[in-house]
Amino acid sequence: MTEGMNNSTENANETKSRNSFTGSIGFVLAAAGSAVGLGNIWRFPYLAARDGGGLFLVIYLVLALTFGFTLLTSEVAIGRMTKQSPLTAYNRLSKGFKPLGIMACIVPMMIMPYYCVIGGWVVKYFLAFLTGSGTAAAEDGYFGGFITDTSTPVAMTIVFLLLTMVVVLGGVDKGIERFSKVVMPLLVILIVAISIFALTISYTDEAGTVRTGLEGLKVMVVPDLSGLTVRSFFSTLMDAMGQLFYSLSIAMGIMVAYGSYMRDEDNLSRSIGQIEVFDTGIAFLAGVMIIPAVYVFMGREGMEASGPGLMFVSLPKVFARMGTIGNFIGALFFALVLFAALTSSVSILEAIVSSFMDQFKMKRVSATMTEGVIALIFGLLVCFGYNKLYFEVELPNGAIAQILDIMDYVSNNLLMPIVAILTCLLIGWIIGPDKIIGEITKNGESFRRRGLYKVMVRFVAPVMLVVLLLKAIGII
Ligand code: PHE
Repeated sequence: MTEGMNNSTENANETKSRNSFTGSIGFVLAAAGSAVGLGNIWRFPYLAARDGGGLFLVIYLVLALTFGFTLLTSEVAIGRMTKQSPLTAYNRLSKGFKPLGIMACIVPMMIMPYYCVIGGWVVKYFLAFLTGSGTAAAEDGYFGGFITDTSTPVAMTIVFLLLTMVVVLGGVDKGIERFSKVVMPLLVILIVAISIFALTISYTDEAGTVRTGLEGLKVMVVPDLSGLTVRSFFSTLMDAMGQLFYSLSIAMGIMVAYGSYMRDEDNLSRSIGQIEVFDTGIAFLAGVMIIPAVYVFMGREGMEASGPGLMFVSLPKVFARMGTIGNFIGALFFALVLFAALTSSVSILEAIVSSFMDQFKMKRVSATMTEGVIALIFGLLVCFGYNKLYFEVELPNGAIAQILDIMDYVSNNLLMPIVAILTCLLIGWIIGPDKIIGEITKNGESFRRRGLYKVMVRFVAPVMLVVLLLKAIGII
């Protein structure tokens, strides 16, 4: 305790009232909780199966250890160095960067409402399988019927939002850390157990074809290089980068907020390594859990779905075909997804709450309540986007969108790359990477990827991000 106080004397005024994680395990589990979310479960497995199996996995891994590591390290270090929220941290480092702070706070504010709506869908499916009505959830039209309903999705969204608020109201150590320490180990146990089960199943379809879980696994891990062209390689690369970005929860202020609660004496670069392993490991296991099951019961065509279609339409059908055990496996699966989504939404809310607290000197309770109301209002709009306020627009990337998709597109495809580009600029060219390296090694810790970090943050990452942004707006 006294050691911690000595180390942070330079920030004494600000740290006095600032919560912190009690140790590096608390920080790593909370940050990994943020990183592991719907993206790991409904997008990663699908991309891996679609984009040439093992090839995608290798590219993803290389990017995680270079590009992902650079952005994650930068954000956590900015947080710990300034002991400030995303809204106030960047202009501490350089005066002109207030707009970056504002953007880094707007991103989680945009994500929060629709993340709660999707979280509400998860609550609904969890309850359906728990109460034994999984078969009904597997019927055609169930999902469409549910989201176009005007009351149940709203009720479920409120349940999910309240659960998130309760954790955040508990504070950093007694709320977020304590919750992550219980939920993350449970999540690992569930995902390992369901993966093992998925690998042991087999099914004979109407045509008499027998398909096994192990064959399904091959689709995901064995590289399929047939038809590989420069163009397809490029698009795999961009898919992996976009996925990584979202998956590590970077460019939305979250890691700055969590970094600001990290103790000065904890080893920053080692913690980053652990978060990378956690996030990538869970994404891979999600693939092992989902791809074989979908392949066995639905064949290759079944693997076309991703996102909500995979989770709320295909997988319930898979569980229904499992017979009586399907309800039980389905309930376990949606419990797991609920845990993953909750630890992520907690982190989104905390990024906003910490910003309100630092900028407007609000108390935790009023900051949480304020954002709760804002999220609820926009959450209602998202829910009504499927019924009362239904419309269709085409996004620059060709997708047909409702309110939820528009918010998702603007935050993920436009704002997040911009936040990340500006962060690289700030660190690489304004304050210099040595400042960050100094923060990482301030207690004499080693930082092995130092050279890599410098090159990445100044040159490679910004260029890659600009390409990603141009692709998102349909220019290339
Ligand atoms: N990183 C989370 C995932 O992989 C998603 C997330 C998005 C988390 C936004 C927080 C905020 O699903």
